Amino acid sequence: MIYSFYIKVYGCQMNDYDGKRIEDILILNGFFKVNDPLTADIVIFYTCNIREKAVHKLESTVGMIKSPKIKVIAVGGCVAQAEKDNIFKRIPRVNLSFGPSTYHKLPEYLDDLLSGKKKRIIDLSNYKLEKFNSTNKRREITTSSYVAIQEGCDNFCTYCVVPYTRGREYSRPVIDIINEVKWLVNNGAKEIVLGGQNVNSYHGEAPYITIGSNRKTWRIEELIKAIAAIDGIKRLRYLTSHPKDFTVELMQVHNAVPILVPFVHIPVQSGSDRILKLMNRNHTAREYLDKLKLFRDICPAIQFSSDFIVGFPSETEEDFNDTLKLVEEAKYTLSFYFKYSIRPNTPAARMLEQIDDKIKEERLARLIKALLKDQIYYNNKLVGKIQEILITKKGKKENQYIGKNIYMQSVIINSDENIIDKFKTVLIESANENCVFGKLLD
Ligand code: SAH
Ligand code: SF4
Ligand code: F3S
Repeated sequence: MIYSFYIKVYGCQMNDYDGKRIEDILILNGFFKVNDPLTADIVIFYTCNIREKAVHKLESTVGMIKSPKIKVIAVGGCVAQAEKDNIFKRIPRVNLSFGPSTYHKLPEYLDDLLSGKKKRIIDLSNYKLEKFNSTNKRREITTSSYVAIQEGCDNFCTYCVVPYTRGREYSRPVIDIINEVKWLVNNGAKEIVLGGQNVNSYHGEAPYITIGSNRKTWRIEELIKAIAAIDGIKRLRYLTSHPKDFTVELMQVHNAVPILVPFVHIPVQSGSDRILKLMNRNHTAREYLDKLKLFRDICPAIQFSSDFIVGFPSETEEDFNDTLKLVEEAKYTLSFYFKYSIRPNTPAARMLEQIDDKIKEERLARLIKALLKDQIYYNNKLVGKIQEILITKKGKKENQYIGKNIYMQSVIINSDENIIDKFKTVLIESANENCVFGKLLD
């Protein structure tokens, strides 16, 4: 019998990548994908646990699926890893729970459940190498293709669940990454995004030992140079980086490798030294700003984006003002901002002075205002420029398409033909704080 599956993926780009690998593995093993959970034998939720209420939302989503056809309800990814056995108590209809480092085992687990050999399976093991190498084959190649180079995090920021859900830092061997990139480029990919939770602490097994050196691992700058030498790549990016791991060598690579975009995401979270210390970020606001300055000196074209958390426990008006001051000096072209969200079993959840939600809301609004001021300034500077835009999706209006420029800013254009997944030359004609508007030139 051939079984159908439906998959819903939440969370970060790493989860999107995992979700695609799960589809590839299942289809290669004879399952077929459907887009409606009501027609599926197997329903998979691949989850994110970064902010609150993830399990709660999942509970109600599972509750809404009434189809009698369903034989397996699986919860995978970061919520599965964090909840452990508890997931079965909270959502009793779930009969398969698998952590983010086990998905290559899904065909075996599904066979066991569908044949009735087992009633319930949970696997939270840490099979990194086997998982990543379980399939290089993709059914769909996108012009922009994400390749995981590392997974997990050893930083233990006090607010964050990732070290507990994705585990300790693991770097894939250089040769495996190069083979995956070559395969993607030979099959049509043109932009490669090197991804992970903390890519600039990458330390993957070297493909060879350089004469005169006894280092057995490569750093990210060496990996980037090796990947840039592969013919056919038009653009290269990496994310996410931790400020403390940003080296001068990595900054210099931005000058040495022309296809590497002059844009990096370096999250700062807060501009207050006191809060940064409580967050366990391992740098001060000044050290961070000095790194941005050094980066701009080394590579004048470089632009930055960041993540922020407002309302971290005990954050005062003075601390928050330090964040606003940092924003003014850093000058980001793009940013992501969040209200602090209590995550059970993290050190910050136990801190006594939790901040009232109203204060968080109000600070968030002020932060957004400050960030958008810079965003509109940079977006206006693009007006009149000609840029290569990778079109990623359809816009809301008829004939409207949305793409990304090298700074990951959204570019809106009109076209009579479907241009999704293509690089297009675009003249930028106008801008607002969230996007720019352009005209196709080719
Ligand atoms: N490893 C990356 C990304 C981690 S998650 C990094 O350190 O940059 C992405 C973002 O989610 C973080 O940068 C942080 O801004 C936000 N985040 C993580 N935990 C959070 C929490 N408990 N509450 C609110 N935002 C959080
Ligand atoms: Fe979470 Fe901090 Fe690691 Fe980022 S660096 S994943 S915020 S613990
Ligand atoms: Fe979410 Fe896990 Fe990514 S918690 S942000 S899916 S690493």
